[in-house]
Amino acid sequence: ETANLGLYGLGTMGSALALNILDNGFALSVSNRSEDVTRDFVTEAGDLAEKLTAYDTIEEMLKGMASPRAVIVMVPAAVIDSVIEAMTPHLDKGDTVIDAGNTDYTETIRRTKEMEERGLNFIGMGVSGGEDGARNGPSIMVGGTPEAWEGMRGVIEAIAADFEGSPCAAHLGPDGAGHFVKTVHNGIEYADMELIAELYGLMRYGNGMAPAEIGEKFTAWNEGRLASFLVEITGKILGYEWDGKPAVDRILDSAGQKGTGRWTVIEAVKLGSHASAIEAAVGGRVLSALKDERQTGAEVLGRQRDAVDLDYGIYERAFLAARIIAYAQGFDILAAASEENDWDLGHARIAEIWRAGCIIRSALLDDISEAFRGDLPHGRLLFAPSFTDTLHEGTAAMRTLVCAATGAGHPVPAFSAALSWYDGFRQARGTADLIQAQRDFFGRHGFVDLDGNEGQHGPWWG
Ligand code: 6PG
Repeated sequence: ETANLGLYGLGTMGSALALNILDNGFALSVSNRSEDVTRDFVTEAGDLAEKLTAYDTIEEMLKGMASPRAVIVMVPAAVIDSVIEAMTPHLDKGDTVIDAGNTDYTETIRRTKEMEERGLNFIGMGVSGGEDGARNGPSIMVGGTPEAWEGMRGVIEAIAADFEGSPCAAHLGPDGAGHFVKTVHNGIEYADMELIAELYGLMRYGNGMAPAEIGEKFTAWNEGRLASFLVEITGKILGYEWDGKPAVDRILDSAGQKGTGRWTVIEAVKLGSHASAIEAAVGGRVLSALKDERQTGAEVLGRQRDAVDLDYGIYERAFLAARIIAYAQGFDILAAASEENDWDLGHARIAEIWRAGCIIRSALLDDISEAFRGDLPHGRLLFAPSFTDTLHEGTAAMRTLVCAATGAGHPVPAFSAALSWYDGFRQARGTADLIQAQRDFFGRHGFVDLDGNEGQHGPWWG
C-alpha cells in the first residue's frame, strides 16, 4: 500500500514518531539518510510494518508516494535546508512539508515563504515529550496555514497525547508560531530544571542529604501541587545507584544545551520581555560548562559552601511560587510575540496542550489554563487571583531560601532572579526616576514628569 504520508529522518525522535503513526493505523512511507538505519527501523516496526513502505532515499520515497504528499521531516536543525533542497524537485503543488524538529521560528517563517512561492505547504511543528512522548503521544504545537493544518489535523490529533479525552495538539498560528511556542516551552523547561537542580544542590550540599533521600522528597512532592514529569523523573533519577554509587555522582556536572533555551532568552530580550528565571537557567548551564574555570575558581577565589538549615516546607512552597513565576515569564514572552507578529496565540489553549505529553507537563498547568480562561489584569499570569495566596506564601519561602542559600555561598540564580522579578512588579514607584535623570543629565534625553508632560529636562540643564 502506498501512503501519501511520509516521514524522513529515523533518529530517536523520528523513529518513535513513525511507530506512533503506524500504531494509529495510518499508512506511512519512510526513509533516512543512511539505508542501514531504515532497514533496522523496518525490523523494529515488527507487526506495525504492514502499513509501512521503506525507501533507500528521499527521492525514491517521494516518487513512490501518491499525491498530494505530506512529509514529516525530523532531522537536526542544521541540515533541514539541505533536506528540503533535495526534496523540492520531486514535490508537486499542494504537497506539504512538515518540519517537526526544534527549529528557530524565524527560519520557519523564511522557509514557509520560500515553499509557498513554489506552491507548496509548509508546517512548522513543535513536538515535545522526548522519545517516550513521540512514541506514545507527544504534545504538538503547530504553525501553518489553516488549509495545511486541516490537511494534517487527523494524523496530528491521533498521534498526540490525550488529556481527559482532548488531544494535546493545536494549530496556534501561521508559519513560525508553532516553533516559537515550542521554543518558549523549552525555555520554561530550562527554568524548571534549574530550579530543581538548585533545590537538589541545597539539600545535598547544604542540608547534607544523600541523593536517594532527596529523591524521596521529590517523589513525595509528585503527589501534590508540584506533581509534574520533571519532578517525577528527578525522584527516580536520584534513587538510582550505579556501580555502588549514586548514579548522579558518576556524571560530569557540565550541562549541554542545543539552543532552544538561549533562543527563548534572545527572543524575550528582542521583544522587550524580561524572562529572568529562564535567563538564569541558561546562564547556569553556561557556567556549568566552564568546568576547568570553576576548578580554578575554587582554588583562587576560595571554596565556600556552608550548611543550611532549611526544611522541606520552605523548599516546597518556594518551588511552587518560583515555578509559577517561570511559567508567568514564559507566557509573557508568548503574549509579546503574539502582539508583535499578529498571531493571536491562545494562552489557555497552549496551557491545555502542555498538560500531557510534553516535558513541562504538570498539575499546575491545569490551574494556569483555568486562570487564562478568567479575567487577568494586563493578561499577566502573575496577577491571577487564583495564584495570589500561593505566591504570597511561596515568595515568603523564597525569601528564606535565597537568604539562607546566599548566606552560605550556594548559587541560586533562578530562585533569586524569580524573586527579584516578583518584587519588581510590586513597586508602584521604583527607581527608574534616577535612571531617567541620569539619561537626561548626560545626554539630554528628556523624561516624562509626574504630570505626564513629555520631553522634560532637569534643573541640571539650567
Ligand atoms: C522536549 C525537549 C526536547 C529536547 C530539547 C532540549 O520538549 O521534548 O525539550 O525538545 O530535550 O532538545 O534540549 P537541550 O537541553 O539539549 O537544549
